[in-house]
Amino acid sequence: MISKIRYGNPVPTGAVVNGTADENGKGQLRYFEKTEQGFRYRMEKKDAVYGLGEANRGINKRGYQYISYCTDDPNHTEEKLSLYGAHNFIVIDGACTFGVFIDNPGRVTFDIGYERTDELNIIPEYEDLDFYIIEGEGIKDIVRQFRILIGQSYIPPRWAFGYQQCRWSYMDADAVREVVDGYENCGIPLTAVYLDIDYMESYKDFTISDERFPDFGNFVKEMKAKNIHLVPIIDAGVKIEDGYDVYEEGTAKGYFVKDREGKDYVTAVWPGLTHFPDFLNTEARRWFGLKYQALTDKGIDGFWNDMNEPAIFYTERGIDEVREFLKAEAGTGDISTDQLMELKWKLNELANNDTDYKAMYHNMDGQTVNHDRVHNLYGYNMTKAAAEGLAELRPGERTLLFSRSSYIGMHRYGGIWMGDNQAWWSHILLNLKMLPSLNMCGFLYTGADIGGFGSNTTRELLLRWLALGVFTPLMRNHAALGTRLQECFRFEHTEDFKSVISCRYRLLPYLYSEYLKSVYENEMMFRPLAFDYREDEIAVNVEDQLMLGNEVMIAPVYTQNATGRYVYLPENMTMIIMHENGEEEKELEKGIHFVEMPLNRVVFFVKADAKIPVVGTDYGRSICNGTMEDIAVSRISWLGKQDKGYRMYMDTGHSDNKKDDVLITEF
Ligand code: GLC
Repeated sequence: MISKIRYGNPVPTGAVVNGTADENGKGQLRYFEKTEQGFRYRMEKKDAVYGLGEANRGINKRGYQYISYCTDDPNHTEEKLSLYGAHNFIVIDGACTFGVFIDNPGRVTFDIGYERTDELNIIPEYEDLDFYIIEGEGIKDIVRQFRILIGQSYIPPRWAFGYQQCRWSYMDADAVREVVDGYENCGIPLTAVYLDIDYMESYKDFTISDERFPDFGNFVKEMKAKNIHLVPIIDAGVKIEDGYDVYEEGTAKGYFVKDREGKDYVTAVWPGLTHFPDFLNTEARRWFGLKYQALTDKGIDGFWNDMNEPAIFYTERGIDEVREFLKAEAGTGDISTDQLMELKWKLNELANNDTDYKAMYHNMDGQTVNHDRVHNLYGYNMTKAAAEGLAELRPGERTLLFSRSSYIGMHRYGGIWMGDNQAWWSHILLNLKMLPSLNMCGFLYTGADIGGFGSNTTRELLLRWLALGVFTPLMRNHAALGTRLQECFRFEHTEDFKSVISCRYRLLPYLYSEYLKSVYENEMMFRPLAFDYREDEIAVNVEDQLMLGNEVMIAPVYTQNATGRYVYLPENMTMIIMHENGEEEKELEKGIHFVEMPLNRVVFFVKADAKIPVVGTDYGRSICNGTMEDIAVSRISWLGKQDKGYRMYMDTGHSDNKKDDVLITEF
């Protein structure tokens, strides 16, 4: 049962699409009490709190605070309160078990036992919101009801489940060819290569640098002939430059975000001075969405949307402030150390500054709305613009699309990646922990920058991360400008990488089937053990293993120099030690085991009575690009014991996303 309580006059967010909420709940906060600042729930000792999608720290969120405010911060250290997404859904599990969704696109703080260990305080900056309470038969049912409320998740094309390589940036077509050849020469399968900002002309959206990527259409074809999809980036900011059509049209039609005086708001991102398209405006959204045609016309069938929190490097306001400071303080030409330190702080504050967000205004179809009140809707609506445009431009076809910033509701239009992580061991674990909480909020197509985006990776770190990435719907290796080259073929013994990545392709029938099942049945593809083994005290405490589908458990290595790790089996399971040419199986009993995990193997666990479909060892790249039916007929083999059946979901390849369109086979 879902009940909704409305406070004030909320801006429509589009998060909720199936209005099953019982308005009888009006005025009744049930478990919560209203406080001056927001809403308070008194937690019992045994209460755990799950959710918040893309958020820091544990799977169980209790014991810290989190702020929903989409933020471009590339240093995901433990104390950070906000990441790129804003996903205000939690489930409190314990004395009472129920879900809460705060539909409010401004800043919302979730203090979950931080100020006071037994209090959960939800503090919205603006009290115009819909407060949903979801009750059901246990956690999974509560999540299912919430997922029905917010609508069906995005389905990518099947090729988007292949292994993908990115770097900021492959500077020209030859650099891309070198990557593709590098993988080919080592026999490591590869499905997509990304084009980061340097494919553009001066970082202008929907342009292609003629100098670096001459004859782009033919280049796309050349890559397609090798079964490689090219995936260009699109940034939120539009460069201010006379003669640039997107800028000129946007200005003429009034499609950019405005300042207080109603003038087009000026900010700076990669291209230098830019305007932000007003994605909260229906017409502007359609206009921007159809611009993707510049690339779909050349054969592009996948995109990633970036810098859409929106990220701001600086504004004229900020720069003026620094100038004023310099003039006033250092007019004598004699700058003291203290003044220099102050200057440093002022420079640090130039980016993503609240004062700047508060000075931006949207035209929400006639209504002027201050950006700060709707901040968390911006990236969501950029991706909605793209999805709707792409549906028009490529009717009936699936397009790969994912975003950096998001709000609940965006899961219907595309996936997200987990932003600028680091080549740190702890970030493998953070990657794992965000999977179930994102699934709770409908984000199924997701993954982290494998190997780590910032700082230099190592061979071992990359291999271990890949062994987790093998299971994440988005499996993309990405690294930042200036870091060590991170493509798998750059390292010694490439056969180890070949072995691990090949397992991804071998697991595709299971992974794609589980993905579709999660979409159509509103299930979580990844779950904490606590969701399945409710009475098992050890399982409830496990934060470094996950259930995948109804058959599998994963437990990746996330420490340096490990030959294996301790794994808790909540029931008897078959351990699968997979490699490209086959697998070994070993029966293990419920309990704690130290399990060896060689660097060139993918180790996972199948429940004793379950079986999963995989591709036999005669896979080829075709398994990612061919149809699911091809695989099903000729290549499927089964792992695990065979006594329990498996219901396999296969995609017809149509993009109307109806449940009766999916091919379901019972084995
Ligand atoms: C941002 C993105 C990153 C990208 C870079 C350059 O930091 O998060 O993935 O490589 O911008 O476009």
